[in-house]
Amino acid sequence: MTGDESHKVMVAGRGGPEVLTYTAVELAEPGPGEVRIRSEACGVSAYDAMLRQYAFPGAPKPPYAPGEDVVGVVDAVGDRVVAPVVGDRVAAWTFGDAGCYAEHVVVDAERAVPVPGDLDAPDAVALVVNYLTAHAAMHAAAGVENGERVLIHGAAGGVGSALVQLGAVAGLEMYGTASGHNQEIVAELGAIPIDYRNEDFVARIRELTGDGVDVVFDVIGGGRQMWRSARCLRKGGRLLLLGMAAANRKGRGVIPGSLLVVGLVNVLPNGKRSPGMPSLDKHAADNMDWYRNTLAEMFELASSGKMKPLVADRIPLAEAGRAHELMAAGGYAGKIVLMAGD
Ligand SMILES: NC(=O)c1ccc[n+]([C@@H]2O[C@H](COP(=O)([O-])OP(=O)(O)OC[C@H]3O[C@@H](n4cnc5c(N)ncnc54)[C@H](OP(=O)(O)O)[C@@H]3O)[C@@H](O)[C@H]2O)c1
Repeated sequence: MTGDESHKVMVAGRGGPEVLTYTAVELAEPGPGEVRIRSEACGVSAYDAMLRQYAFPGAPKPPYAPGEDVVGVVDAVGDRVVAPVVGDRVAAWTFGDAGCYAEHVVVDAERAVPVPGDLDAPDAVALVVNYLTAHAAMHAAAGVENGERVLIHGAAGGVGSALVQLGAVAGLEMYGTASGHNQEIVAELGAIPIDYRNEDFVARIRELTGDGVDVVFDVIGGGRQMWRSARCLRKGGRLLLLGMAAANRKGRGVIPGSLLVVGLVNVLPNGKRSPGMPSLDKHAADNMDWYRNTLAEMFELASSGKMKPLVADRIPLAEAGRAHELMAAGGYAGKIVLMAGD
């Protein structure tokens, strides 16, 4: 190694958490229009675990550095960059490209959004990809309206807890599924909790609402799960498939069943439909103002205390494998965060 040194976590090959290795690399220089961020906190997501385990069209091929979001301080800028400047504290999402489990991350300058000084790095990073996803699902895809009733699955998870918090801001009546130990957290966030492991959520929704909900946000996936979600909808209701967290436990087999139900809901003559979720990277790349303004709004809501992102755990970057083990074991609430420089 000739220049300055940095470290990143690499996925050495597809497999379990043990394929994550902490590696010394040469410090990358930002190119024209780019900035380099010295990481404080890097976000971990169920999507990272899915990519680590399975090959998908468009997925990065090992070896690659995983991770989609980061918060830190700009320590170098490339040519033609006007803002941010060295020393600014920023958050960034890599728009579908991985690379954030790293001490230094180079991104396009326009993707680096200022973070208020009073916001903790783990809280700020928890607001990036999960809240952008939740915002796009709620507003661009489902078009929720004040007073509508919604069911949010995985309501104590990263995306689910973001949906519940944004739902509270949007004035929705909310029901959220979670394991027994997370019922209180879901209630505190503002949704009526349903213990999906011990209760039939379809029956419970009928009992609580009478005719069902206007929207179901499903991050779990699988044919049976999605069909049961569709049954929770009242006439005119919308079913949103946002993720397939079930793949982490049940494998890729959950994908065809999920897509089949989406297709069926759209063709059956029962007034229900399943609008497509926009691809988040394309949605953001096509709407840079939306990306920057939504993130700024999230930071403002958190900074003013109107929203409090859930941080499940803070784990040193060098121990990223432990973060993935924790994710596989389940039982946590919110976003797992890797701390750089610890
Ligand atoms: N569309 C997009 O752009 C986008 C963006 C980000 C993430 N995603 C996807 O969204 C999914 C969730 O991601 P995440 O980061 O929020 O994951 P996460 O933090 O691990 O949350 C998943 C949650 O689901 C719960 N859960 C598991 N099985 C369940 C079931 N059958 N019913 C109800 N809850 C269940 C888990 O709780 P317990 O452990 O208590 O069971 C956990 O709280 C992933 O598939 C991810 O790839 C999509």
